[in-house]
Amino acid sequence: MIDVTPSVFDASLSRSGDSGIDSFVDRHAPDVAYTYYGAGKVALRDGLAGLVEPGENVLVPAYLSPAVVEPFHELGLESRFYAIESTLAPDFDDLEQRLDDDTVAIVSVNYFGFPQPGLERIASLADEHDCYHVDDNAHAPLSVDEGTLLGTVGDLGITTLRKLLPVPDGAVLYCADDEVREAFDPSPLAGPADRVGAADCRYVASSVAETVLGASPSLHRSVEAFLADGADDPSSVDPEARFEAGKAPMSRLSKAVADAAEPDAIRAARRENFRTWRRVLDDRDDVTPLYDRLPDGISPYEFPVRADEPAGFQSELADCGVVGAHSWPILRESVHGNEAYETANRLSEEVVTLPVHQGIEPSAIEAVGDRLEH
Ligand SMILES: Cc1ncc(COP(=O)(O)O)c(C=O)c1O
Repeated sequence: MIDVTPSVFDASLSRSGDSGIDSFVDRHAPDVAYTYYGAGKVALRDGLAGLVEPGENVLVPAYLSPAVVEPFHELGLESRFYAIESTLAPDFDDLEQRLDDDTVAIVSVNYFGFPQPGLERIASLADEHDCYHVDDNAHAPLSVDEGTLLGTVGDLGITTLRKLLPVPDGAVLYCADDEVREAFDPSPLAGPADRVGAADCRYVASSVAETVLGASPSLHRSVEAFLADGADDPSSVDPEARFEAGKAPMSRLSKAVADAAEPDAIRAARRENFRTWRRVLDDRDDVTPLYDRLPDGISPYEFPVRADEPAGFQSELADCGVVGAHSWPILRESVHGNEAYETANRLSEEVVTLPVHQGIEPSAIEAVGDRLEH
């Protein structure tokens, strides 16, 4: 069976010594100040708080999970969705039309661990219009694009450790620009927790349950839903509640796992799994990978494909033991069904993401490939 997340008990890719997320960030972004958070959304709020005034607006891509704009709203900002192309680049005509004197920031999103196409143009537009560029790299803490750690491309950026490691929470705020660093006034939610808390205990308890229940896919799924906090369950998407739920410092457990993780080995394993999915699905005419290439340095979050029959493909995968292949994302209400965002709507229906995490052996993906063929 291929699980949606790695297990907290999977120690094979972690060890003590000179490893950990800190040393990876120090190595790849030595001049960037960074701070840990429990959630990327709270990191976004704190990063922007000293830079913005209520009534200003932020431009964000329409192809986005609904809760990501909540921190902007808490700061009194208007979120304006810009349309995207099927390459996931911004539709620049649309973006520029929405830009005005009150635009304080433009957000780019490095989808699935890859730099958003058009990143440089977004940065220069932000410069030209004297607003901040926010580099949302929630998906891939370890992606390095041509020598630059993703998340540190803009004036400020974030990344989410929960999408990389078997942890209940964890995110990083990058303050790349001097002005951003000076204006940064961390809230009490910044930094790792100083005590073991409920999140640590709950997570370890449910991970034990997961291991014990590992043989039973249906039970397993229910434990996963608990772990994911309903992340992919459309019925549980209340953006405000999701933002509120993230308002806790990074747990001790997450920090310990982040300190012990072996980033290079994790990235290599994810890349290998990405390439294996590509090979395994190569012959299928009804499934098209979103990315043709896997450039050096990229740490894929998942293997996203566009499927002609997304629901059918997902159930085929489930029958072959792949837990958690899902469509992405659930769109914000104002975007969903809105014809101004036709491409974002189409992609949110067609894209199916397959897990590539470091807890999966490439041979398990090959075995799924054999079963899919039959
Ligand atoms: C593109 C993107 N940005 C930001 C976030 C928010 O991250 P967090 O869940 O750590 O608050 C997410 C989470 O799903 C995301 O997909």
